[in-house]
Amino acid sequence: MTQTDEVATSWQPRADALAAAVAAALPSVDLAWLAAVAAVPRHVLVPRFHEQRRGAWISVDRDDPGWLDAVYRDAPLVTALMPGPNGRQEVVSSSTKPALMVRMLDALAITEEHRVLEIGTGTGLNAGWLCHRLGSHAVSSVDIGAELVDLARARLATLGYRPDLAALDGRRGRPGHGRFDRIIATCSVPEVPRDWHQQLADDGRLLVDYKIGLHAGSLVLLHRRGDRLEGRFLPKWAGFMPVRDADTAPARSSHPPGPARRESHTRVDPDPWAALVPWFLAQLADPPITGFGRCGPDLEITRISAADGSWAEIDPADSNGDRPVREGGPRRVWAAFEVAHQQWVAWGRPGWERLGLTVTAAGEHLLWLDTPTAAIGPGATTAAVVPGARSARAERASRPGRTGPISPATPPGSA
Ligand SMILES: C[S@@+](CC[C@H](N)C(=O)[O-])C[C@H]1O[C@@H](n2cnc3c(N)ncnc32)[C@H](O)[C@@H]1O
Repeated sequence: MTQTDEVATSWQPRADALAAAVAAALPSVDLAWLAAVAAVPRHVLVPRFHEQRRGAWISVDRDDPGWLDAVYRDAPLVTALMPGPNGRQEVVSSSTKPALMVRMLDALAITEEHRVLEIGTGTGLNAGWLCHRLGSHAVSSVDIGAELVDLARARLATLGYRPDLAALDGRRGRPGHGRFDRIIATCSVPEVPRDWHQQLADDGRLLVDYKIGLHAGSLVLLHRRGDRLEGRFLPKWAGFMPVRDADTAPARSSHPPGPARRESHTRVDPDPWAALVPWFLAQLADPPITGFGRCGPDLEITRISAADGSWAEIDPADSNGDRPVREGGPRRVWAAFEVAHQQWVAWGRPGWERLGLTVTAAGEHLLWLDTPTAAIGPGATTAAVVPGARSARAERASRPGRTGPISPATPPGSA
C-alpha cells in the first residue's frame, strides 16, 4: 500500500477519535459540530505544520512518522512562519485547537439558516466545518495572508467546499456582502472594528478575542442590541494571535532597561496567567504593557515593559513570599498592576464570566462587572469609558513586544 493509500484509509478513525476528544472536553456541545469534526479531514487542510525543537523550527509533513497522529490530536498546530524585522521566524498562522474552535462555534448558537463571516481563514479548517454544516453559500472567510487564502481555497475545493474567501484586512469585515448573522474572529483585536458592527445583522452575535495589551483579554460574545453590541466574556480564557496590519510578520518592540529608579517588594505573582483578569484590568492604564518575558541566568526574573519605555523586573519569591521589584522609565508599570490586582481582590476575584463589554454606536468600549450599569476601569464611578486614546492603544496592542534578552513566555492554551 502506498503512503497516500494508507492515509486515505486511516484518517477517518483518527477524525472520529478527534471528535470524541472534543465531545469529552465539551459535554453539552451541539452534535452538529462533532459531525463536522469527524467529516472534514484536517490532514487535507494541514498537510504540513511546524514544530519547535531545541529552539529551531522544523517542518513536519506526511513523510514524517507521527504526522497523521499529530494532525488529529486536539492541539493547535503552527502552519505558517515568516521572518520578522530582526530575521527571526515568527508565527503568522496556525490551525486552532479543535476543541477551542468548536467551543467558539457552539457559543455562537449557529443554526442552519445563518450566514457566517470568519475573520482569520488560516488553514480553512473552521471554514470547512462551517461549510459542512451550513453549505458553502452561507460561509465567508477572510485572511490578510493572500497565500493562506489561496491554499485554503484550493484545499477546500478538493473536499467539495467553495465558500466565499478573500484576502483582505479582516478589520474591514467582508464589504459588499450584506450583513451576517454571526461573525467569528480567530485573531485578537484591541477594539471591535466599526465594520464588524455594521455588518452584523439585527440580533446577530459576534465572538472575538478582545485583547487590549499583551495577553490582556479573552473571548467576548457580543449580541447586537439596537445600535450597540453588548455581552459577556466566555468563562474560560483563550488567546489568539494579534491582528496583523499587513501580510508580514509582526514587529516586536524592544525597550532596553535603563537604571532602576525605584525598588520595592511584592507578594503578587507576576505571571499574567496566574491571574489573567487583574492582568487584563491593569492594561486599562495607559500605556498598556507590551512586553513580558523572563531573564537572568536561569530565566528566573520576570520582566514587563510598556511602549513608553517603562519597565519592571520582579525576582522570585524569598522564603517569606516577598519578591524584590525594580522599576524604571516614566511610569510605574508594576505599581499599576498591583493596584489592579488589589481592586480585583476587593471585587471578590471575579472570573471572566463576570466581566462584560458594551460597544456603542459611536465606537466607545465600556467594560463592566456583572451588569452593564456597573462600569469598571480606572476612576470609574457610573459609566467609565476605557481611558486613553483608543486608536493609539490599538496600534500599540497590535505590536507585541519583548524586552532585552528574554525567553518568550506563551500562556498555556493559546491558539
Ligand atoms: C489562529 S489563525 C486562524 C485559524 C483558522 N481559523 C483555522 O482554523 O485554521 C489566525 C489567522 O488570523 C489571520 N490574521 C491576522 N491578522 C489579520 C487581519 N488583519 N485580517 C484577517 N486575518 C488576519 C492570520 O493570518 C491567521 O491566519
